[in-house]
Amino acid sequence: MSVAMSLPVHVSVLLDEVITALQPRPGGRFIDCTVGLGGHAAAILEEISPSGRLFGIDADPDAINISKDRLSDYSETVTLVNDNFINLEAISKRYHIHPVDGILFDLGVSSLQLDTAERGFSFHLDAHLDMRFNPEQGLTASDIVNRFSEQELAKLIERYGEERHSRRIARSIIQNRPIATTAELAQSVQQALAGSTRRGRIHPATRTFMALRIAVNNELQNLELALKQTPNLLRPGGRLSVISYHSLEDRIVKQFMRHAATSCLCPPGTVICSCGHVPTLKLISRKVIKPTSLEIESNPRSRSARLRIAERLN
Ligand SMILES: C[S@@+](CC[C@H](N)C(=O)[O-])C[C@H]1O[C@@H](n2cnc3c(N)ncnc32)[C@H](O)[C@@H]1O
Repeated sequence: MSVAMSLPVHVSVLLDEVITALQPRPGGRFIDCTVGLGGHAAAILEEISPSGRLFGIDADPDAINISKDRLSDYSETVTLVNDNFINLEAISKRYHIHPVDGILFDLGVSSLQLDTAERGFSFHLDAHLDMRFNPEQGLTASDIVNRFSEQELAKLIERYGEERHSRRIARSIIQNRPIATTAELAQSVQQALAGSTRRGRIHPATRTFMALRIAVNNELQNLELALKQTPNLLRPGGRLSVISYHSLEDRIVKQFMRHAATSCLCPPGTVICSCGHVPTLKLISRKVIKPTSLEIESNPRSRSARLRIAERLN
């Protein structure tokens, strides 16, 4: 079997919309902060090659290895870096990357991570509770589930999972500890929710698993830290595109872009501006961009995707 045939598949979300937003042209320079399985990266590389340059970052060494294979036709044009995107500015300095024409974040988890049982992301596949994007990093989902207090667990599941039954779930987790596997955790959640009203189409453990993944990988804090670094790395007219999959993530992106695009931060009613705030970005789409029903039908994992775009001012 050829390498190409054995590569895992990840259907890139909002691909046409991202390409329209980033406007890659021959010779362009781009950073893909979440290169994953290289889907968006390949589409950018097709437009900018052979004279352009794409830097792909991912915290997950498996994603980097697969992207290396998938993007091997562009080996002269692409540089792949196994690192956390919170180090974006340092990586840019190390590789003399900036200023760039565009920066992309496609947040969250890849199909490779979800579909590889040993990574412990999915309640559909029984495995050790792990959920780390980077398997070298310290804290696992098992550490949180087995060490946090009932109150801490309830708070985390409520905040990151937006789960209204968080207290019942936390109590059930405490009663069932030690919990070693994804199946044991899913069972504890199901026990906690037995008898509660129907929860629609999603599995009862969906929100709890998402909350744990966000906590394990410090996803919200990392996003805030990384976004702040982006304006300085873009050339004037360069574009920032961010796809998020969670309302808290999308709120962070929206607030960051609005703040960077605001010309004055003085309290409402102030006559003479004294804040000294200088806008660095311009909003390209005031309304968030969502996948079409056709895309959701062909790729249900795209259903919660939200794309926001901003452009670097002079
Ligand atoms: C949805 S996937 C990206 C898929 C990719 N756009 C494609 O088309 O194949 C998200 C990727 O972001 C990576 N990731 C998430 N948080 C990260 C972080 N803080 N630093 C670096 N990579 C991160 C994950 O490991 C995962 O591979």
